[in-house]
Amino acid sequence: MNRYWSDIVEKLTPYTPGEQPKVNNLIKLNTNENPYGPSPAVLAAINAESNENLRLYPDPNSDKVKQSIANYYNIHTEQVFVGNGSDEILAHTFHALLKHKLPILFPDITYSFYPVYCGLYEIDYQTIPLNNDFQINVEDYAVPNGGIIFPNPNAPTGCALPLDEIETLLIKTQDSVVVVDEAYVDFGGESAVSLIQNYPNLLVIQTVSKSRSLAGLRVGYAMGQTGLIEALERVKNSFNSYPLDRLAIAGAVTAFSDVDYFEQTRNAVIQSRKTLADALQGLNFEVLPSTANFLFVRHHEHAAGDLAKKLRERNIIVRHFNQPRIENFLRITVGTEDQCKALINALQQILR
Ligand SMILES: Cc1ncc(COP(=O)(O)O)c(C=O)c1O
Repeated sequence: MNRYWSDIVEKLTPYTPGEQPKVNNLIKLNTNENPYGPSPAVLAAINAESNENLRLYPDPNSDKVKQSIANYYNIHTEQVFVGNGSDEILAHTFHALLKHKLPILFPDITYSFYPVYCGLYEIDYQTIPLNNDFQINVEDYAVPNGGIIFPNPNAPTGCALPLDEIETLLIKTQDSVVVVDEAYVDFGGESAVSLIQNYPNLLVIQTVSKSRSLAGLRVGYAMGQTGLIEALERVKNSFNSYPLDRLAIAGAVTAFSDVDYFEQTRNAVIQSRKTLADALQGLNFEVLPSTANFLFVRHHEHAAGDLAKKLRERNIIVRHFNQPRIENFLRITVGTEDQCKALINALQQILR
């Protein structure tokens, strides 16, 4: 508290991101980054762009990035919005499309940034409990609302909602915007991008942070009909004209053209997810079905907080959310084969 603060700042409860340790010798399975580096073509493009043109502002519209994404998904360039990571796009979305008279809806167990944006923009919200299997039941969302948002696959559970259920929800809630946050969709979920031409109330948000190994570049994008995109552009152009810098533009464009590398690394993650899930089940962990690059697991005889602490003592970091319903779970990012083996070895020692 400080006498110079605005009222809203005083009331905020900011988001706490997962730890980014300052030392290098840790196996970092706590923030769902890709264990593989970015495509070599992306690094070359960023290097090439690191030249004297950096004295100039970048293209405020990031047109080349929008074109690359539009080509990749076979949609129109005007149906794409880009921003400084999908977190920034989420912020603009709450501001531009989810601030209405009625409360917005999102699951009780979900990305914990959503209530933070509600605090920042003074938006009422109501949480809808996941069912006992930690799945979203779309029928529960058919109540009056100012908008709906959820990740698919959900975070931190990793569980996905089939496309036909998203379509059912869109049909039932035509008066409000439905935002599908697809940060992890490339690891096995079904993208709702194919539905945007039919549903003017659907906004799909994705990122290059996870499946394209570029969390450090900060590029996110949203796809939807032009009415929704225009709302985001209006907020963006009232906030920051240049959310993507020259290096981010060069890297993001190439990330969408190097499809081979993308396929190769995401398939490696999917493969390791299966091996890791089997090994954890072998250690008596319950593993929720995941189509993301992480697993959400619990052990019925060991407290998750203790396990996280003991892993940390062995230089492995995973994420524990001390929050009702999920305090006994750990969220574990799928690492390389070697990292997964090290995790399993450490757990074998701890559980002995
Ligand atoms: C569900 C979900 N959405 C969005 C994000 C933000 O991703 P970024 O801002 O790196 O694009 C994350 C990051 O962990 C996430 O888990």
